Amino acid sequence: MIDLHSHILPGVDDGAEDLDEALEICRLAYEDGVRAMVATPHLRQESFWNDDRNLLVDRFKALRAAVRRTFEGEFEIHLGGEIAVHGASLEEINQLPGGNLLTLAGTSYLLLELDWHGVGPDPHEMIHEVVVAGFRPIIAHPERVAWFVRDRELVESLVDQGAMMQLTAMSVTGELGRRTQETSEWMLDAGLVHFLASDAHDPSLRHPGLKNARQVVAERWGEPLAQALVEDHPQAVLEDRPIDARAVPIEREAKAGLWSGFARRLLSGEED
Ligand SMILES: [Fe+2]
Repeated sequence: MIDLHSHILPGVDDGAEDLDEALEICRLAYEDGVRAMVATPHLRQESFWNDDRNLLVDRFKALRAAVRRTFEGEFEIHLGGEIAVHGASLEEINQLPGGNLLTLAGTSYLLLELDWHGVGPDPHEMIHEVVVAGFRPIIAHPERVAWFVRDRELVESLVDQGAMMQLTAMSVTGELGRRTQETSEWMLDAGLVHFLASDAHDPSLRHPGLKNARQVVAERWGEPLAQALVEDHPQAVLEDRPIDARAVPIEREAKAGLWSGFARRLLSGEED
């Protein structure tokens, strides 16, 4: 599995505090079955502006060297950023590959974090501009941004425009509460989800790992979707290949199969 969203770059945001903690997060991810991870420090977020790209690159190189020593080539990390959308985001995006923003692993994919309160550029305009500029936008944890997911038509129309949606694994498993889980479920039902990612900040509270969320998706929406969300789509990102955002492989039978199995057991008096 490949995890496109994590705060493992040491000492630059509210994620890993130092190299040891970063390596511990990587170790847990590795044990969970993750083989590649993108470090996505907060960029342009109020508390973590992080506009010194050279510093981020230097920290990344040090972490990558430590990771390679520790995992002997079996676990790879890449550098990216989680870009908080603000008034000047479009100007900055238009400067890429120059300027101080970072795309995911140097590709044309951008991980964008919407404003929690809906402040900032109009989402339609922003996605339009990003796509026209030749980039592929991924919206980070939409299920946690209440004003955004309240408007289902908005989510659908952004996907039609070329935006992709990345759910946090802990939202899917219910570890972040009932509301984000239910929101994740309707988005998965509607075929509006393209990635699962950990958004890991530390080894325990906001932990790494995708296996449990992958299993939830496989059981309710089918193995092909589970594989797409944690393997095929993230692999396409790392190789900078396009993804058809309106063609996610949902097997509704997976859900039906679960229920018919339940009904069968009920009727036959079987117990689990
Ligand atoms: Fe994040």
